[in-house]
Amino acid sequence: MKTLKDIDISGKNIIIRCDYNVPMEGNVIKDNSKIVKSLPTLNYLLDNGCKIVILSHLGRVKSEEDKEKNTLKYVAKELANLLGKEIKFVDKCIGERLKEYVNSCNNKDIILLENTRFMDFPEKLESKNNLELAKYWASLGDIFVNDAFGSLHRAHASTAGICKFIPHCIGFLVEEELKHLNILIENTPHPFCVFMGGAKVDDKLPIIKSLLERCDYLLTGGGIANSFLKAKGADVGSSIATNDENILNELKNLMIKYKGKIILPLDFTIDDGVIYDIGSKSLDLYKKYIVNSEIIFVNGTCGKFEDERFTEGTIGLFKILAISNKIIIVGGGDTASAVKKFGFVNSFSFISSGGGATLEYIADKKLAALEWMDL
Ligand code: 3PG
Repeated sequence: MKTLKDIDISGKNIIIRCDYNVPMEGNVIKDNSKIVKSLPTLNYLLDNGCKIVILSHLGRVKSEEDKEKNTLKYVAKELANLLGKEIKFVDKCIGERLKEYVNSCNNKDIILLENTRFMDFPEKLESKNNLELAKYWASLGDIFVNDAFGSLHRAHASTAGICKFIPHCIGFLVEEELKHLNILIENTPHPFCVFMGGAKVDDKLPIIKSLLERCDYLLTGGGIANSFLKAKGADVGSSIATNDENILNELKNLMIKYKGKIILPLDFTIDDGVIYDIGSKSLDLYKKYIVNSEIIFVNGTCGKFEDERFTEGTIGLFKILAISNKIIIVGGGDTASAVKKFGFVNSFSFISSGGGATLEYIADKKLAALEWMDL
């Protein structure tokens, strides 16, 4: 797989895929980390006199209303602020006129096209990797740079199909991500500890199984912990936990197969019979495993950290990790937001910008979009 420095990009027209799928509340970007992380590659392209056309998705588009909600125009403003440079935002992502416009732009211009998933309604073209669409996007530049780490688990027209039609490489953000995450796949130092929290055990079961084969301890929090407890026969009431009997069975079998490896919380913050966080005894227990490990991968949080009544577990865990002097790799969109919210951005070895992509890469060492790239 070629990286940016393997290709002569000087003065070329670059089409770059970024992951600007940022959390939004109305017109306000709640966390701009993904935009900030795209700057090194963009600055490098500018320094090399390139014309830059940016593609990105935002949210899911299943109706005309979704298009209004998921416009990239606020991302364009934020990117302009961060780069200190005009961003030419185009409110469409396809068409002859767009192509003429791009051709009329100059080197060092940055053109951000509207959300690639606008091409998912009325017909799913982007997400189904429509090759005609991919060919059109490829026709807007000389070289394709894929720097959308968070989207690499999606083989879509703008991440995968486009590679069929144009020379391509990965950008600095993707290179950094792969370099740091590889330590969780090959030659991982031991003891290797994983903390897995968050709501959805059903989605995370494949990665849990894959990590259990390789890690020494799996510490649990949130809905993941509740689901294991429920599988053990505990009454978790209406706390977040899976209701799927097959999954509960699988969790039960995993606890038998990996006896002693799956560590469940001992105490909780409960409101109205619902578990919202883990308690101090659990943190004391988790600390013992953390200080005895060489590397810790953190995915998910201990509880409902968005509510200030239930932040203690998550902040407590971050504090233990921050002073542990161990290699700490954080993955997952929500986890990264919690790390930022509670001021731990500079406390850990690496914070991945990916959610699903990070987990799929660690579980399989494969990412669907990378499979479309020439080696
Ligand atoms: C993410 O935020 O995890 C990525 O941007 C992928 O988004 P998606 O799940 O909508 O494809």
